[in-house]
Amino acid sequence: MNQNSINHKNILVTGGAGYVGSHACVELLQSGFNVVVVDNLCNSKTESLSRVQHITGRPLTFYQHDIRDKSALADIFAKEAISTVMHFAGLKAVGESCEKPALYYDNNVYGTLALTEAMADANVKKLVFSSSATVYGASDCRQYSEDLPLGAINPYGRSKVMIEAVLRDLSAADTINQHKSPWKIALLRYFNPIGAHESGQIGEDPDGIPNNLLPYISQVAIGKLAQLSVFGNDYPTPDGTGIRDYIHVVDLVKGHIKAINALEGEAFKSGGCKAYNLGTGQGYSVLEMINAFETVTGQRINYKIAPRRTGDLAECFANPALALKELGWKAEKNLDDMVADTWNWQTKNPQGYIQ
Ligand code: NAD
Ligand code: WQD
Repeated sequence: MNQNSINHKNILVTGGAGYVGSHACVELLQSGFNVVVVDNLCNSKTESLSRVQHITGRPLTFYQHDIRDKSALADIFAKEAISTVMHFAGLKAVGESCEKPALYYDNNVYGTLALTEAMADANVKKLVFSSSATVYGASDCRQYSEDLPLGAINPYGRSKVMIEAVLRDLSAADTINQHKSPWKIALLRYFNPIGAHESGQIGEDPDGIPNNLLPYISQVAIGKLAQLSVFGNDYPTPDGTGIRDYIHVVDLVKGHIKAINALEGEAFKSGGCKAYNLGTGQGYSVLEMINAFETVTGQRINYKIAPRRTGDLAECFANPALALKELGWKAEKNLDDMVADTWNWQTKNPQGYIQ
């Protein structure tokens, strides 16, 4: 495929049927982009994509493929005149990654290699990648800036560190090879995405018992789970419970649109690979999250104090200044919005997506 056949409005969204990806599809369609999704549905259902089209009143194109299938990717690039890729496809359960590390490295790291190879073959070299604050590992810091050394502490996190390194190396090789269409890559390090689209039609639909705090709280509130365990109340934080930087998923995906625009602009004119934190810069403790949920929804959350969860940090929140400076992005929604939208999604879809 040559550059003439690329349509700058055509975005390939890997993992677009998933939680963050489906919200990104809505934002892309509403911003005038055309969306092509590739997803193997290992952790999602096509119902999310039907609802994306319902919310936006616009169609998208869906391919059910694994991103490790290079020939399937080559066919998509040959057909769809893709300009930029938003890469969400990946496995994300920390506990499972400790049990099945090879699966995580194969799916996440090899999957990204297969994707970037197909992209390079098609001369599509703009990429927005879903990285994670987990790449910072167990640093002593409370607030994380992009220039901190990386050092993840579990196979899932290490898969993200490895992918970031691969993408940085691909970009660096352009400088040596004087490539005339260089890689332009934004590594977006998410803090803790929560919430749902305000329509309540799409949201997070965890398979089985949730690992993350907000999905767990909302399933206790709706009566699917009996009791929340608060993992530790002896951390060196004001109330003793862990502090995180929760970010509304709609704010998060707006950051992706800003990143796509930045890749087209001056800052990436000569190519490059840069990391940006996507967080609010504000941390909340587990007990503050329970309180916010009780206040906004009027539901009482049954919880008990339990031992610390292995690998958890006391406190972790973003320095989001770089994303503001270079992408022109900052989170707009507050904790009440995040909780209200989570609850709206949960009550409208008590069993998640049913297909
Ligand atoms: P998700 O599981 O809801 O979505 C991931 C999607 O990718 C799913 O639809 C799944 O079916 C698909 N997928 C996985 N492996 C695939 C493969 N080999 N080929 C094709 N499709 C594949 O997860 P999410 O919460 O939407 O996360 C999206 C991305 O953001 C992931 O890369 C995740 O690591 C990253 N991230 C998520 C969080 C979070 O807390 N949700 C935080 C930081 C980073
Ligand atoms: C938040 C706080 C827990 C559940 C994880 C991954 C990370 C990232 C996002 C993708 C902590 C406490 C939780 C519960 C609790 N994913 N908690 N009871 O641990 O910051 O990050 O998800 O990249 O890689 O590690 O998020 O929502 O699991 O926990 O007390 O049942 O809630 O101890 O303080 P975390 P979380």
